[in-house]
Amino acid sequence: MGIQFKQVSYAYRGVKNERYEAILNINLEIKDGEFVAIIGHTGSGKTTLVQHMNALLEPTKGEVQIFNYRLPKKKKEKVGPIRKCVGLVFQFPEYQLFEETVLKDIMFGPKNFGLTNEEAEVKAREAAQLVGLTEEILNKSPFRISGGQMRRVAIAGILAMEPDILVLDEPTRGLDPQGSKEIMTLFKELHVNHHKTIVLISHDMNIVSQYASRILVMDSGHVVFDGKRDDLFNHPQFDAFHLARPHAYEQMIHLSQQLNIPFKPVYTKGELLEHLKEVYHE
Ligand SMILES: Nc1ncnc2c1ncn2[C@@H]1O[C@H](COP(=O)(O)OP(=O)(O)OP(=O)(O)O)[C@@H](O)[C@H]1O
Ligand SMILES: [Mg+2]
Repeated sequence: MGIQFKQVSYAYRGVKNERYEAILNINLEIKDGEFVAIIGHTGSGKTTLVQHMNALLEPTKGEVQIFNYRLPKKKKEKVGPIRKCVGLVFQFPEYQLFEETVLKDIMFGPKNFGLTNEEAEVKAREAAQLVGLTEEILNKSPFRISGGQMRRVAIAGILAMEPDILVLDEPTRGLDPQGSKEIMTLFKELHVNHHKTIVLISHDMNIVSQYASRILVMDSGHVVFDGKRDDLFNHPQFDAFHLARPHAYEQMIHLSQQLNIPFKPVYTKGELLEHLKEVYHE
């Protein structure tokens, strides 16, 4: 079932009520169990696109189908069930923390969906454990913990609602390399072991190429590429996308051009080393 966009456009309204088309005529299907990355330069429409996935925005043209729900929704229809199926973690989600303690903050979502205090606490503790928050942190104020920990609290708050699809808007932005790696490892684990569908917006090509099995590129409100990493980074019009390539891939290009080492698409230092070992053993 997943999520389907059928000829979807979205226009923001300006101060003088003028229309600004942020996404245009999008046709797209995200199937259950996928790990999809969305990339594209700033202002290309990534956030606008994903905010349709949990009904935060409704298309001004076209239709979005999220499992059995359709947007634009009927007048009296509630968005609660959509939000429960699709958890959206905002860019800098820590700005939305507000409760007295970390535990209460994580419990907020499940309580909002009608669970009792006790039930919500069970879900919150499970989610906290998944993201690696210790018991000690659960009783602290969410404003007296580190930025990386805040990010985990916000993610736990979404996970506690047990969504089937996790939409992550730049979840590693502003984190140090270790923090980024830990968070990405968590998403991979949720994908592989908990069968969550993942939609990830990122500007980091190293991350995108290592974790996603499908990549969408947005440019000026359009999806201009939809496919696999090898086809993207090797695309004849790659320069027109204004994107960087992953470090290891870039180094491989230099090595093949300057030292005539046979080219192979590689995405990590380890893969590059393996390739070089194979070449020099022959
Ligand atoms: N609330 C808003 N009102 C008016 N225009 C908006 C609003 N939010 C976004 N836009 C415009 O819509 C376009 C797409 O914005 P969007 O936030 O979807 O881009 P993005 O790809 O997520 O960018 P970034 O990588 O910087 O997060 C941009 O030109 C932006 O200026
Ligand atoms: Mg954005």
